[in-house]
Amino acid sequence: QLTANIQNHHFDHILLNAAGVMCQTNEELNTVLSSSYTGAVVTKSATADHRPGNPAPRYYELPNHLGTINSMGLPNEGFNYYLDYVSTNPSQKPIFFSIAGLSKQENLDMLHQLQNSDFDGLIELNLSCPNVPGKPQTAYDFEATQQILSEAFAFFKKPLGVKLPPYFDIVHFDMIADILNQFPLAFVNTINSIGNGLVIDEDSDTVVIKPKGGFGGIGGTLVKATALANVRALRQRLNADIKIIGTGGVTTGRDVYDHILCGADLVEVGSQLAIEGITVFDRLERELTAILEEKGYQSLEEVRGQLKVL
Ligand code: DHB
Repeated sequence: QLTANIQNHHFDHILLNAAGVMCQTNEELNTVLSSSYTGAVVTKSATADHRPGNPAPRYYELPNHLGTINSMGLPNEGFNYYLDYVSTNPSQKPIFFSIAGLSKQENLDMLHQLQNSDFDGLIELNLSCPNVPGKPQTAYDFEATQQILSEAFAFFKKPLGVKLPPYFDIVHFDMIADILNQFPLAFVNTINSIGNGLVIDEDSDTVVIKPKGGFGGIGGTLVKATALANVRALRQRLNADIKIIGTGGVTTGRDVYDHILCGADLVEVGSQLAIEGITVFDRLERELTAILEEKGYQSLEEVRGQLKVL
Protein backbone atom coordinates (compact mmCIF):
# COMPACT_ATOMS: atom_id res chain seq x y z
CA GLN A 1 0.00 0.00 0.00
CA LEU A 2 3.06 2.26 0.21
CA THR A 3 3.23 2.89 -3.51
CA ALA A 4 3.43 5.73 -6.01
CA ASN A 5 3.44 6.44 -9.73
CA ILE A 6 5.30 8.89 -11.91
CA GLN A 7 3.96 8.89 -15.46
CA ASN A 8 3.99 5.22 -16.52
CA HIS A 9 6.46 4.16 -13.85
CA HIS A 10 5.19 2.33 -10.80
CA PHE A 11 6.98 2.31 -7.46
CA ASP A 12 6.25 -0.53 -5.04
CA HIS A 13 7.86 1.45 -2.23
CA ILE A 14 8.14 5.20 -1.85
CA LEU A 15 11.66 5.34 -0.43
CA LEU A 16 14.95 5.54 -2.27
CA ASN A 17 18.42 6.99 -1.88
CA ALA A 18 19.08 10.66 -2.51
CA ALA A 19 21.50 11.28 -5.34
CA GLY A 20 25.09 11.25 -4.15
CA VAL A 21 24.61 8.68 -1.42
CA MET A 22 25.29 4.97 -2.04
CA CYS A 23 25.07 5.35 -5.80
CA GLN A 24 28.47 5.99 -7.35
CA THR A 25 29.48 2.42 -8.23
CA ASN A 26 27.66 -0.60 -9.67
CA GLU A 27 28.01 -2.30 -6.31
CA GLU A 28 26.41 0.58 -4.39
CA LEU A 29 23.61 0.95 -6.93
CA ASN A 30 22.92 -2.80 -6.70
CA THR A 31 22.79 -2.53 -2.91
CA VAL A 32 20.04 0.11 -3.08
CA LEU A 33 18.10 -1.83 -5.70
CA SER A 34 18.41 -5.07 -3.73
CA SER A 35 16.75 -3.69 -0.60
CA SER A 36 13.20 -4.99 -0.16
CA TYR A 37 12.18 -1.52 1.02
CA THR A 38 13.31 0.73 -1.85
CA GLY A 39 11.11 1.64 -4.79
CA ALA A 40 13.92 2.74 -7.07
CA VAL A 41 17.50 3.98 -7.17
CA VAL A 42 18.96 7.29 -8.32
CA THR A 43 22.45 7.29 -9.76
CA LYS A 44 25.24 9.63 -8.67
CA SER A 45 24.97 12.77 -10.76
CA ALA A 46 27.03 12.16 -13.86
CA THR A 47 29.27 14.50 -15.77
CA ALA A 48 30.41 13.68 -19.29
CA ASP A 49 33.79 12.54 -17.98
CA HIS A 50 34.92 10.73 -14.85
CA ARG A 51 35.76 13.07 -11.94
CA PRO A 52 37.74 12.24 -8.80
CA GLY A 53 36.02 15.08 -6.92
CA ASN A 54 37.43 17.38 -4.25
CA PRO A 55 40.24 16.49 -1.81
CA ALA A 56 39.36 14.75 1.46
CA PRO A 57 38.10 15.22 4.09
CA ARG A 58 35.03 16.20 2.08
CA TYR A 59 32.17 14.72 4.16
CA TYR A 60 31.53 15.09 7.89
CA GLU A 61 28.80 14.00 10.30
CA LEU A 62 27.87 16.60 12.91
CA PRO A 63 27.58 15.60 16.57
CA ASN A 64 24.19 14.93 18.14
CA HIS A 65 22.54 13.72 14.92
CA LEU A 66 22.26 17.28 13.65
CA GLY A 67 23.17 16.30 10.12
CA THR A 68 26.03 16.35 7.66
CA ILE A 69 28.19 18.71 5.65
CA ASN A 70 29.82 17.76 2.36
CA SER A 71 31.74 19.21 -0.50
CA MET A 72 32.30 16.12 -2.59
CA GLY A 73 32.88 18.03 -5.83
CA LEU A 74 30.88 15.71 -8.06
CA PRO A 75 33.06 12.61 -7.95
CA ASN A 76 31.51 10.19 -10.45
CA GLU A 77 32.46 7.48 -12.90
CA GLY A 78 31.38 9.45 -15.95
CA PHE A 79 28.23 9.36 -18.07
CA ASN A 80 29.04 6.18 -20.01
CA TYR A 81 29.55 4.15 -16.84
CA TYR A 82 26.00 4.91 -15.69
CA LEU A 83 24.59 4.40 -19.20
CA ASP A 84 26.18 0.93 -19.15
CA TYR A 85 24.80 0.31 -15.67
CA VAL A 86 21.21 1.14 -16.52
CA SER A 87 21.32 -0.94 -19.69
CA THR A 88 21.79 -3.98 -17.46
CA ASN A 89 19.32 -2.97 -14.72
CA PRO A 90 19.38 -6.09 -12.54
CA SER A 91 15.96 -5.36 -11.01
CA GLN A 92 12.37 -4.60 -11.96
CA LYS A 93 12.58 -1.24 -10.23
CA PRO A 94 12.73 2.07 -12.07
CA ILE A 95 16.05 3.90 -12.18
CA PHE A 96 16.51 7.66 -12.00
CA PHE A 97 19.49 8.65 -14.12
CA SER A 98 20.92 11.83 -12.60
CA ILE A 99 22.99 14.19 -14.70
CA ALA A 100 24.88 17.31 -13.63
CA GLY A 101 26.81 18.65 -16.58
CA LEU A 102 29.30 21.42 -15.94
CA SER A 103 27.66 23.55 -18.63
CA LYS A 104 24.32 23.81 -20.39
CA GLN A 105 25.86 22.20 -23.44
CA GLU A 106 27.22 19.27 -21.44
CA ASN A 107 23.75 18.66 -20.00
CA LEU A 108 22.10 18.89 -23.43
CA ASP A 109 24.70 16.51 -24.90
CA MET A 110 23.99 13.93 -22.18
CA LEU A 111 20.24 14.37 -22.69
CA HIS A 112 20.66 13.76 -26.42
CA GLN A 113 22.53 10.55 -25.68
CA LEU A 114 19.85 9.42 -23.21
CA GLN A 115 17.13 10.25 -25.72
CA ASN A 116 18.89 8.11 -28.34
CA SER A 117 19.63 5.24 -25.94
CA ASP A 118 17.51 2.27 -24.86
CA PHE A 119 17.22 3.71 -21.34
CA ASP A 120 13.58 3.43 -20.28
CA GLY A 121 13.74 4.93 -16.79
CA LEU A 122 13.49 8.51 -15.56
CA ILE A 123 16.03 11.30 -15.87
CA GLU A 124 16.84 13.78 -13.12
CA LEU A 125 18.52 16.95 -14.33
CA ASN A 126 20.46 18.30 -11.36
CA LEU A 127 20.25 22.08 -11.38
CA SER A 128 21.55 22.41 -7.84
CA CYS A 129 25.07 21.14 -7.23
CA PRO A 130 26.70 23.67 -4.85
CA ASN A 131 30.12 22.06 -4.60
CA VAL A 132 32.01 22.62 -7.84
CA PRO A 133 34.37 25.58 -7.31
CA GLY A 134 33.54 28.41 -9.71
CA LYS A 135 30.21 26.93 -10.87
CA PRO A 136 27.00 28.59 -9.63
CA GLN A 137 23.84 26.59 -9.07
CA THR A 138 21.74 26.89 -12.22
CA ALA A 139 18.42 26.85 -10.34
CA TYR A 140 19.25 30.09 -8.51
CA ASP A 141 19.42 31.74 -11.95
CA PHE A 142 15.80 31.75 -13.14
CA GLU A 143 16.65 32.84 -16.68
CA ALA A 144 19.24 30.11 -17.08
CA THR A 145 16.77 27.55 -15.71
CA GLN A 146 14.10 28.60 -18.19
CA GLN A 147 16.66 28.50 -21.01
CA ILE A 148 18.00 25.01 -20.38
CA LEU A 149 14.50 23.57 -19.96
CA SER A 150 13.34 25.20 -23.20
CA GLU A 151 16.25 23.74 -25.09
CA ALA A 152 15.93 20.33 -23.44
CA PHE A 153 12.20 19.88 -24.01
CA ALA A 154 12.59 20.90 -27.64
CA PHE A 155 13.89 17.38 -28.28
CA PHE A 156 13.68 15.37 -25.07
CA LYS A 157 10.68 13.03 -24.84
CA LYS A 158 11.50 10.67 -21.96
CA PRO A 159 10.30 11.32 -18.37
CA LEU A 160 12.44 14.22 -17.18
CA GLY A 161 12.52 15.93 -13.80
CA VAL A 162 14.74 18.46 -12.06
CA LYS A 163 16.57 18.46 -8.74
CA LEU A 164 16.21 21.84 -7.08
CA PRO A 165 18.09 23.64 -4.35
CA PRO A 166 16.11 25.01 -1.41
CA TYR A 167 14.42 28.38 -1.84
CA PHE A 168 13.92 30.71 1.11
CA ASP A 169 11.61 33.39 -0.19
CA ILE A 170 7.93 33.18 -1.08
CA VAL A 171 8.46 35.18 -4.27
CA HIS A 172 11.18 32.75 -5.30
CA PHE A 173 8.72 29.87 -4.85
CA ASP A 174 6.35 31.75 -7.17
CA MET A 175 9.07 32.46 -9.72
CA ILE A 176 10.51 28.96 -9.97
CA ALA A 177 7.03 27.39 -10.10
CA ASP A 178 5.99 29.73 -12.93
CA ILE A 179 8.97 28.53 -14.94
CA LEU A 180 8.59 24.83 -14.15
CA ASN A 181 4.88 24.91 -15.02
CA GLN A 182 5.75 25.85 -18.62
CA PHE A 183 7.25 22.40 -19.20
CA PRO A 184 5.99 18.79 -19.24
CA LEU A 185 8.16 17.82 -16.28
CA ALA A 186 7.59 14.34 -14.88
CA PHE A 187 8.69 15.39 -11.41
CA VAL A 188 10.48 17.94 -9.30
CA ASN A 189 12.87 16.77 -6.59
CA THR A 190 13.22 19.16 -3.67
CA ILE A 191 15.55 19.82 -1.85
CA ASN A 192 19.24 19.40 -2.53
CA SER A 193 21.51 20.27 0.39
CA ILE A 194 21.38 23.77 1.86
CA GLY A 195 24.42 25.08 0.07
CA ASN A 196 27.54 26.50 1.60
CA GLY A 197 27.11 26.10 5.31
CA LEU A 198 30.10 26.14 7.62
CA VAL A 199 30.79 23.75 10.49
CA ILE A 200 33.55 24.27 13.09
CA ASP A 201 35.24 21.68 15.26
CA GLU A 202 35.22 23.00 18.83
CA ASP A 203 38.42 21.35 20.05
CA SER A 204 40.64 22.53 17.24
CA ASP A 205 38.83 25.69 16.09
CA THR A 206 39.08 24.38 12.53
CA VAL A 207 36.69 23.71 9.74
CA VAL A 208 35.73 20.05 9.31
CA ILE A 209 36.07 19.59 5.56
CA LYS A 210 38.95 20.62 3.32
CA PRO A 211 37.41 21.94 0.07
CA LYS A 212 36.36 25.57 -0.28
CA GLY A 213 37.81 26.61 3.08
CA GLY A 214 35.28 24.41 4.89
CA PHE A 215 32.09 25.52 3.13
CA GLY A 216 29.76 22.70 2.12
CA GLY A 217 26.21 21.51 1.57
CA ILE A 218 24.21 20.83 4.72
CA GLY A 219 21.95 17.78 5.00
CA GLY A 220 20.10 15.80 7.64
CA THR A 221 18.04 16.97 10.60
CA LEU A 222 19.16 20.60 10.21
CA VAL A 223 17.44 20.92 6.83
CA LYS A 224 14.10 19.24 7.54
CA ALA A 225 12.03 22.40 8.03
CA THR A 226 13.44 23.93 4.86
CA ALA A 227 12.76 20.72 2.93
CA LEU A 228 9.15 20.53 4.10
CA ALA A 229 8.57 24.17 3.21
CA ASN A 230 9.89 23.59 -0.29
CA VAL A 231 7.82 20.44 -0.84
CA ARG A 232 4.70 22.18 0.42
CA ALA A 233 5.27 25.44 -1.46
CA LEU A 234 5.93 23.66 -4.74
CA ARG A 235 3.00 21.25 -4.33
CA GLN A 236 0.75 24.27 -3.87
CA ARG A 237 2.10 25.89 -7.05
CA LEU A 238 2.98 23.17 -9.55
CA ASN A 239 0.66 21.58 -12.10
CA ALA A 240 -0.90 18.44 -10.63
CA ASP A 241 0.78 16.24 -13.24
CA ILE A 242 4.24 17.24 -12.01
CA LYS A 243 5.01 14.78 -9.22
CA ILE A 244 7.15 15.71 -6.24
CA ILE A 245 10.05 13.84 -4.74
CA GLY A 246 10.59 15.05 -1.19
CA THR A 247 14.19 15.01 -0.01
CA GLY A 248 15.77 16.46 3.08
CA GLY A 249 15.96 15.81 6.79
CA VAL A 250 14.52 12.30 6.83
CA THR A 251 15.76 10.30 9.79
CA THR A 252 12.50 8.77 11.07
CA GLY A 253 9.20 7.41 9.77
CA ARG A 254 7.59 10.59 11.05
CA ASP A 255 9.85 12.61 8.76
CA VAL A 256 8.70 10.51 5.80
CA TYR A 257 5.08 11.01 6.87
CA ASP A 258 5.61 14.78 7.09
CA HIS A 259 7.00 14.89 3.55
CA ILE A 260 3.90 13.01 2.34
CA LEU A 261 1.60 15.39 4.24
CA CYS A 262 3.30 18.25 2.39
CA GLY A 263 2.62 16.52 -0.92
CA ALA A 264 5.59 14.28 -1.69
CA ASP A 265 4.98 11.27 -3.92
CA LEU A 266 8.35 9.64 -3.29
CA VAL A 267 10.77 10.38 -0.45
CA GLU A 268 14.55 10.21 -0.63
CA VAL A 269 17.08 9.61 2.11
CA GLY A 270 20.55 11.12 1.91
CA SER A 271 22.44 11.87 5.11
CA GLN A 272 20.74 9.19 7.19
CA LEU A 273 21.48 6.57 4.52
CA ALA A 274 25.13 7.57 4.64
CA ILE A 275 25.10 7.38 8.45
CA GLU A 276 22.99 4.26 8.99
CA GLY A 277 23.44 2.20 5.85
CA ILE A 278 20.97 0.26 3.72
CA THR A 279 18.88 -0.99 6.66
CA VAL A 280 17.57 2.56 7.12
CA PHE A 281 14.88 1.81 4.53
CA ASP A 282 13.55 -1.15 6.50
CA ARG A 283 13.33 0.92 9.69
CA LEU A 284 11.73 3.95 8.00
CA GLU A 285 9.07 1.85 6.29
CA ARG A 286 8.24 0.07 9.54
CA GLU A 287 7.98 3.37 11.41
CA LEU A 288 5.83 4.89 8.66
CA THR A 289 3.52 1.87 8.60
CA ALA A 290 3.08 2.09 12.37
CA ILE A 291 2.04 5.75 12.09
CA LEU A 292 -0.48 4.99 9.33
CA GLU A 293 -1.95 2.13 11.36
CA GLU A 294 -2.19 4.22 14.51
CA LYS A 295 -3.99 6.96 12.60
CA GLY A 296 -6.24 4.48 10.82
CA TYR A 297 -5.14 5.19 7.25
CA GLN A 298 -5.21 2.39 4.67
CA SER A 299 -3.12 4.12 2.04
CA LEU A 300 -0.85 7.07 1.43
CA GLU A 301 -3.48 8.61 -0.84
CA GLU A 302 -5.39 9.57 2.30
CA VAL A 303 -2.37 11.47 3.62
CA ARG A 304 -0.65 12.94 0.59
CA GLY A 305 -0.93 16.72 0.60
CA GLN A 306 -3.39 16.68 3.51
CA LEU A 307 -1.40 18.99 5.79
CA LYS A 308 -3.78 21.06 7.89
CA VAL A 309 -3.39 24.78 8.51
CA LEU A 310 -4.63 26.94 11.34
C1 DHB B 1 27.60 17.18 -5.24
C2 DHB B 1 26.77 17.76 -4.32
C3 DHB B 1 25.49 18.05 -4.66
O1 DHB B 1 24.62 18.62 -3.78
C4 DHB B 1 25.04 17.78 -5.94
O2 DHB B 1 23.79 18.09 -6.26
C5 DHB B 1 25.87 17.19 -6.86
C6 DHB B 1 27.16 16.89 -6.51
C7 DHB B 1 28.98 16.87 -4.87
O3 DHB B 1 29.60 17.64 -4.15
O4 DHB B 1 29.50 15.84 -5.35
